[in-house]
Amino acid sequence: MSSDNFQSVLTENRVFPPSDAFVAKARVNADQLSALRAEAAADFRAFWGKFAREELSWETPFQTVLDDSNAPNYRWFHDGTLNASYNCLDRHLATRGDKVAIRYEGEKGDTRNYTYRELHTEVCKLANALKGLGLVKGDRVVLYLPHSAEAVIAMQACARLGITHSVVFGGFSATALRDRIEDTGARVVITADGNQRGGNFIELKKGVDDALALGCPLVEKVVVAKRTTQTVPMAAGRDLWWHELTAAVPATCEPVFVDAEHPLFLLYTSGSTGKPKGIQHCTGGYLLGAMKSAQWVFDLKEDDLFWCTADVGWITGHSYVTYGPLANGATVMIYEGVPTIPDAGRFWKICQDHGVTIFYTAPTAIRALMKSGEEIPNKYDLSKLRLLGSVGEPINPEAWMWYHRVIGKEKLPIVDTWWQTETGSIMMSPIPGATATKPGSCTQPLPGLFADVVDELGDPVSGKTAGGYLVITKPWPSMLRTIWGDNERYKKAYFGQFPARPDGSLLYVAGDSTHRDEDGYYWILGRVDDVLNVSGHRLGTMEVESALVSHPRVAEAAVVGRPHEIKGEAVCAFVICKGARPTGDEAAALIKELREHVSKEIGPIAKPDDIRLADGLPKTRSGKIMRRLLRSIAKGEEITQDISTLENPAIVEQLAGKA
Ligand code: WTA
Repeated sequence: MSSDNFQSVLTENRVFPPSDAFVAKARVNADQLSALRAEAAADFRAFWGKFAREELSWETPFQTVLDDSNAPNYRWFHDGTLNASYNCLDRHLATRGDKVAIRYEGEKGDTRNYTYRELHTEVCKLANALKGLGLVKGDRVVLYLPHSAEAVIAMQACARLGITHSVVFGGFSATALRDRIEDTGARVVITADGNQRGGNFIELKKGVDDALALGCPLVEKVVVAKRTTQTVPMAAGRDLWWHELTAAVPATCEPVFVDAEHPLFLLYTSGSTGKPKGIQHCTGGYLLGAMKSAQWVFDLKEDDLFWCTADVGWITGHSYVTYGPLANGATVMIYEGVPTIPDAGRFWKICQDHGVTIFYTAPTAIRALMKSGEEIPNKYDLSKLRLLGSVGEPINPEAWMWYHRVIGKEKLPIVDTWWQTETGSIMMSPIPGATATKPGSCTQPLPGLFADVVDELGDPVSGKTAGGYLVITKPWPSMLRTIWGDNERYKKAYFGQFPARPDGSLLYVAGDSTHRDEDGYYWILGRVDDVLNVSGHRLGTMEVESALVSHPRVAEAAVVGRPHEIKGEAVCAFVICKGARPTGDEAAALIKELREHVSKEIGPIAKPDDIRLADGLPKTRSGKIMRRLLRSIAKGEEITQDISTLENPAIVEQLAGKA
């Protein structure tokens, strides 16, 4: 837990109640929120069962809401059948066929709209093409695509056939892509010839070619979306153009109805070991969570233009670009580019030009845009905006206040939403027409969700200054179902830390530390495990360490985070070389090479900000690396900890750059 963060949240006591104007039109006001909470507290199964019946279109209605006989392998609505793509598209066609589902803008300013009918057609065509490749329900397909309409189409086409998709963020390297493809056992990869981002041409197809050259023996076909004028090599018999495959197929495709528990997608995320976890989400419960949370948190209405800036490669892009908004029949904005091209006004220009009404982004983006000054956003007409959101990491009160003042003109509610890849949908957030907000707090759990703060033994803690582990005390529909291929790890990582409560309920451990104030508001302080949060992206320290030691010159490495003004956390690596430790130019060259090496092994997001070469790491006599000490060194703090128990106390001076 970061003590700086703890101090800053303890002194934050500003409160912002929702405006009367917002409350008057809100989907949920304070009384309605209390009623929802009371209903859920009385019987959370009945609560979710009712919404599942009301909100989702079932092919076979379910009889059982929650089966917890095999906890923590919970099953929700498991005897019902439905199709996610049907729920996102088909059921809107009669009433919203001509409504825009996706408004797209590319980095160069090119735009394209897809109505629900057009999106449905594109999805059906690709689904028919995938069927033609012999893919059937239960198969896995990996998507390595830009943040584009094609990514949404590909996800929906898979869902339509009961194929489990796994989107790999386009910024991951070929090696990381290979690992994920192999873990899923995918037979088909869908990619693009490339894309334009940050003014550069991103060679996605080459990433796939390289990944397949490294392994992936099960992959039979690669479907390539043509998005650029660049020529890319196409392997005969293996690589197929999307537009050619879909040219002569029917424009409709019957959805394949699946059990509610059928895996809709796998999404890999970092944990405290070197191997990313394939988080498995199901069809029914996941969709319900994404759908209801979008209504409650974003107050989503028929004429909104909802812009969640997250890439489809992350959970936020799954739940709030694709599934949640589309299941609600909403219009989403997709911008395939970086916020700083041509200048730091791009986000605000998009809000103005398209009339974005709800804007949802990450604190790292807010901090970066804040740095470029308020004159930039002030140049744009942001009057259509009515709600702002934040996700991915703790938002510091300063950034919150800037967002509130400069973008929200002191009028708009801000929803600071806490959740995780594993939770599937937002768990804690203000309800904009009901909750008074405090800068830096994600406030309280949504209706139907139950959280608590516990100590090392799993016992509840309370009191203004008491911090502890954040736990979720009851299962919820959109929770992960397992870790793909490793159910034991699922049980151990998420439910193994604390004993069950006297009523038998298991505690889901989020991996975050938190504290709860006297109003029952939660303040997330950060990760308690070996996971960093760099620009809102999760990164396991072990993953970076194993990437470093895969370099021939590295004998040992330890990676820790240090606070970073814009990225939230920066990656700091301490590296022990094989043989003599290089110095001077030779050291500089090696450091550069190691940064590139990590980028190649994982992706540019994992590139260490600092690398220090040393002769040893601070270890206890039992051989454990003292990470807390390394964190202090990385921050440049005076070392006040007792280092007398270290096996090699002198190394501390060297690591701190003093010897
Ligand atoms: C952090 C992203 C504070 C947290 C949806 C969590 C947050 C991890 C917030 C999950 C927030 C996410 N306030 N911290 N509003 N939202 N986090 O899986 O540490 O990429 O455990 O999911 O991000 O990251 P993930």
